[in-house]
Amino acid sequence: MSMRVYLDNAATTPIAPEVIEAMIPVMNEGFGNPSSTHFYGRQTKALIETSRRNVAKVLNCQPSEIIFTSGGTEADNMALYSSVHQLGVTHIITSSIEHHAVGHTAEAIAHSGEAKVSYVKVNEKGNVDLADLERLLHSGEKSLVSLMHANNEISTLLPMKKVSALCRKYNAYFHSDTVQTMGHYVFDLKDLDIDFITCAAHKFHGPKGAGFLYVNKKVKAEALIHGGAQERGLRGGTENVYGIVGLAKAMELAYEDVEGHQRQVQGLKSYMIEELKRSFPDIAFHGETDSDRSLYTVLNVCFPRTEKAGMLLFTLDLKGVAVSGGSACSSGATKGSHVLEGISADMTRPNVRFSFSRYTTKMDIDYALEQVRAVFEKTLV
Ligand SMILES: Cc1ncc(COP(=O)(O)O)c(C=O)c1O
Repeated sequence: MSMRVYLDNAATTPIAPEVIEAMIPVMNEGFGNPSSTHFYGRQTKALIETSRRNVAKVLNCQPSEIIFTSGGTEADNMALYSSVHQLGVTHIITSSIEHHAVGHTAEAIAHSGEAKVSYVKVNEKGNVDLADLERLLHSGEKSLVSLMHANNEISTLLPMKKVSALCRKYNAYFHSDTVQTMGHYVFDLKDLDIDFITCAAHKFHGPKGAGFLYVNKKVKAEALIHGGAQERGLRGGTENVYGIVGLAKAMELAYEDVEGHQRQVQGLKSYMIEELKRSFPDIAFHGETDSDRSLYTVLNVCFPRTEKAGMLLFTLDLKGVAVSGGSACSSGATKGSHVLEGISADMTRPNVRFSFSRYTTKMDIDYALEQVRAVFEKTLV
């Protein structure tokens, strides 16, 4: 039986039908420019503000702390540049395994000479060395710690409260790229002491091109995009109204039963781990796999060496299994993963990232396992 299975949900997720339903009337009728003062403008302005209130309610923060953006990259950029330009940060402490939205932004800032960048040690599973973080925080400079909540390639989770406590102890600002965890874990921003977190709606069945930056009311953000007074002057340009409405609807759906989704998806991930161990005695996994240390939607598998390593993703794609891989450097086709490099992973073994969503079924996993086993049956060296 041939079928198609989508197991690349960390890259992006299919949009939920309820989200599309919420967006269509806005596309049809809500065309007014939210900055216009007439009826059409007031109508769409109200949609944006209702969305902002709904998002804030889910996160237990104030609506004024949510700045809508085009997604995760823009929000991450804004957090870093705001820290340097508005908060007087001269030292950014981050890691070598951040998403490029943070890593390349930190590099650009270092290159401009506006702040220096230090990289905290991470171990072979992608866990941040908290003693090393404390050592870096000792510098006495005004620092921003920017560490992602969950790694998008290897799933390892950051102990957010411990990092927050360290930042406060040393008077440092704290930004976390929460793009992979927003919509998948509960955030209580009255309880979690943090300055900036980020969101991209397309990672939890919302539309692409819509996200936000949470800016703690105690700190100040700066516009990256200059123009009109939209988003209280922090993000010029006519708002992506239907994207924002879709984002708020996706948040509502994600948090309606977040524990239920977590249980269901974690169950599939654990099942896949067990089945892979049964089929391949020397299988290994990159990053953490324990449910309390690892993002439940991502599983990064390190397969045994095979002569067809370079063809693995291609073969799976041919069989209808959509996944992604990081260490394709051996094929010469793409650059190797900076994350796998950052944890000194064995790059001679083929690796595949399987990532799941609440729409993933056991049938999908079984089909993927069947195709994976077929690839390896005749090719183990
Ligand atoms: C951890 C992380 N940060 C940031 C981003 C960038 O988000 P966007 O594609 O919405 O700009 C992604 C998306 O791939 C991500 O996984």
